[in-house]
Amino acid sequence: MPAERPGSGAGPVPRHVAIIMDGNGRWAKKRHLPRIAGHRRGVEAVRATVRAAGDLGIEALTLYAFSSENWRRPAAEVADLMGLLRRYIRDELEELAGNGVKLKIIGDISRFDDDLVTMLEQACARTSGNRQLTLAIALNYGGQDELVRAARGLALDARVGRIDPAAIDAELVEARLDTRELPPLDLLIRTSGERRLSNFLLWQAAYAELLFVDTLWPDFDQAALAAAVADFGRRDRRYGGL
Ligand code: IPE
Ligand code: IPE
Ligand code: MG
Repeated sequence: MPAERPGSGAGPVPRHVAIIMDGNGRWAKKRHLPRIAGHRRGVEAVRATVRAAGDLGIEALTLYAFSSENWRRPAAEVADLMGLLRRYIRDELEELAGNGVKLKIIGDISRFDDDLVTMLEQACARTSGNRQLTLAIALNYGGQDELVRAARGLALDARVGRIDPAAIDAELVEARLDTRELPPLDLLIRTSGERRLSNFLLWQAAYAELLFVDTLWPDFDQAALAAAVADFGRRDRRYGGL
C-alpha cells in the first residue's frame, strides 16, 4: 500500500500553518512534575511537528515559542526556556539543514543574550538556501510590537522622503512585518483549550482559519497536525465574498 499522505485528497493543504504551543505547564502539573518537564516534552512535540509539517507538504510553519509578554514569568522559568532554545538549535540544526528546512526568527531578539543572538543568526544563515519547509520561530514576539516596529519604520521612511504617507497601504505595511517572506497565513492552531490569540500574528490572522484544540502541547504530534490539516481542508473560505 502506498504511504498515505494525510491531508491530501481531503481538500487543500495549508501553505502556512502557525501554532500557539500552549499547555506545557498544565501537562507537567497533571503529572506532579516541575513546569520545565512540560517544556522539555514540548520540545519533543516541536521535533515531531516539524517533521510532520515537511511530510504533509506545508510550506511554512510558524511556532510561538516565547511571547513579548512571557518576560512576566519568574526569571528561573525564562532562563529554562532560553536554555531549551539553545539546546534545540544546537541538537537539531544539522537535521533541520539536512531535511531542507529554512530557519527564520520572527520577533525582536535584540533583548536576548549576545551569544544566543549570534547562534540564532548563524543557524538562519546556515539554512537560508533551503526550500522544503520554512520554520519560523517566534521569539520575544508580539503582534502589537511587530506592528509598532512596522509603523516606526514607515514613519522614518516618510520623514526622510523615501515614501509618501498617502501611498501607505496594506502591501507596504506587510512588507515591514517580520513575516514578509512567508506565505499568507492559512491556519492558526492553539493547543490546550485556551481560546485567545495572546498577541500572536494579529495582522496575519485577518483571514486565517482558526482551530482551537484541547490537546496540551506536549501531547501534540504528527496525527494531531494531520487532523488539523484535514479540518482545514473542509473549511469554506470566503474572504468577505460569496
Ligand atoms: C506554553 O506552555 C509554553 C510557553 C508559553 C513558552 P505554558 O508554559 O504556557 O503552559 P501552561 O499554559 O502554563 O499550561
Ligand atoms: C502564548 O501562551 C505564548 C506562547 C505559546 C509562547 P501563554 O501561555 O503565554 O498565553 P496566555 O498568558 O495564557 O494568554
Ligand atoms: Mg500558557
